[in-house]
Amino acid sequence: MMVTPPQTILITGASSGIGKALAVSYAQRGKTLILVGRDVRQLEEAAAECRSFGATVEIGAIDVRHAEKLCEFILKMDRQYNVDLLIANAGVSAVVSEGEIMESVEITASIFEINVFGVLSAVQAIAPQMCTRGKGQIALMGSMAALRGLPYAPAYCATKSAIHIYAESLRASLNKHGVSITLIVPGFVETPFNAGLSSPKPMALSAKRAAAIIRRGLEKGKCEIVFPRLLYFLIRAGSLLPARLVDAILARIPVENLR
Ligand SMILES: NC(=O)c1ccc[n+]([C@@H]2O[C@H](COP(=O)([O-])OP(=O)(O)OC[C@H]3O[C@@H](n4cnc5c(N)ncnc54)[C@H](OP(=O)(O)O)[C@@H]3O)[C@@H](O)[C@H]2O)c1
Repeated sequence: MMVTPPQTILITGASSGIGKALAVSYAQRGKTLILVGRDVRQLEEAAAECRSFGATVEIGAIDVRHAEKLCEFILKMDRQYNVDLLIANAGVSAVVSEGEIMESVEITASIFEINVFGVLSAVQAIAPQMCTRGKGQIALMGSMAALRGLPYAPAYCATKSAIHIYAESLRASLNKHGVSITLIVPGFVETPFNAGLSSPKPMALSAKRAAAIIRRGLEKGKCEIVFPRLLYFLIRAGSLLPARLVDAILARIPVENLR
């Protein structure tokens, strides 16, 4: 089912990586892009690039952990432009360093605040507005890391798993109001997010390629946009193996944060 192309697109985490590549891919005359992130300089750079293609651009230098501020901004933008598509993309990861058993309490809390509550806050701000209008599209950024826990990133995997279930749960209830929900499930994408990771990144794609796949999937109104499919099937197939065996294989992968 093809979806009417969105005129107004709000992207969180638009100052870098996949979010920025998505913004640029939508940038053209007649589109309004609303870019959220913390780094004002990087947001301005992304905005300038989008404006050079003729798009109208607003920026919100907001930490998604500040739910009230984020909600206020989204509602203000929605009153002004009627947001057609929200891409709740902002996210961070952390890797268990050499000698550590797991992430610290502070790091775990921060990852959950950004990757889970930051996403939920954006969705909860816009969903009622879209439901009232009887149309709209919401995309939530998941990850293949949600499919199987990784010993070097337990908190990150858990946050993405929460997003997968949340998106799945919302889908049917919002569909009834004319609002579609899309879960984005990427494998490895080359961005600053994982640039410091020493681990192998099989089948990694560029951010530009990832954005093109996501945009196409959103235009088709897909419930899930999963790429690369081969990696997805390998991970899914791996889940049929005994958990202890998979644990042992994963434990042998050397992972170091080089930053
Ligand atoms: N790269 C991959 O291999 C991969 C794979 C699967 C899923 N993903 C997911 O894709 C999403 C984007 O990641 P990326 O690879 O594009 O990484 P990235 O280049 O590091 O971009 C992350 C974006 O999130 C924003 N962000 C982080 N914390 C924020 C906060 N507290 N408030 C507002 N914005 C915040 C960053 O902006 P500021 O720094 O300006 O705040 C930046 O724009 C994440 O959710 C990630 O989990 C990535």
